[in-house]
Amino acid sequence: MMARIPALLLLLAATSALAQAPDPASRGRLLALQCQACHSFKPGEAHRVGPNLAGIIGAAAASRPGFAGYSAALKASGLAWDTATLDKWLASPAKLVPGTKMAFAGVSTPADRAAIIAYLAVATR
Ligand code: HEC
Repeated sequence: MMARIPALLLLLAATSALAQAPDPASRGRLLALQCQACHSFKPGEAHRVGPNLAGIIGAAAASRPGFAGYSAALKASGLAWDTATLDKWLASPAKLVPGTKMAFAGVSTPADRAAIIAYLAVATR
């Protein structure tokens, strides 16, 4: 019976180490709550102020079906949403696409942007 206690302590230590280094996608899930004020993620959900983002990774900009609110600037951008382009967009939408209607200042920390993109890749599939 006593022999189990060290094992339990080890397990607790391992669990708290995990809590200090959450995987990027779970941090991304929290950070992406701010996106969901304006975007739904799952296929078939209604557009909000911004388009539903289902299938966004790798898609051409301004191509979500049935969304009428795109700016002329985004439509003319010629961008595709690979992860490098998404990173620039999330750093500053207005810098990447001057004239965009996405009223969002941006995420300044690179690790936070990477976490959001990792989560988007899962959540918008
Ligand atoms: C205040 C509302 C708002 C918030 C918050 C917001 N967005 Fe947007 N987003 C928009 C709008 C509106 C557009 C369309 C922009 C345009 O047409 O210029 C857009 C466009 C986009 C696009 C391009 C979609 C396409 O079809 O090309 C992506 C990707 C995107 N947003 C991701 C995000 C992510 C990720 C977050 C959170 C970090 C976020 N947005 C936060 C409103 C918002």
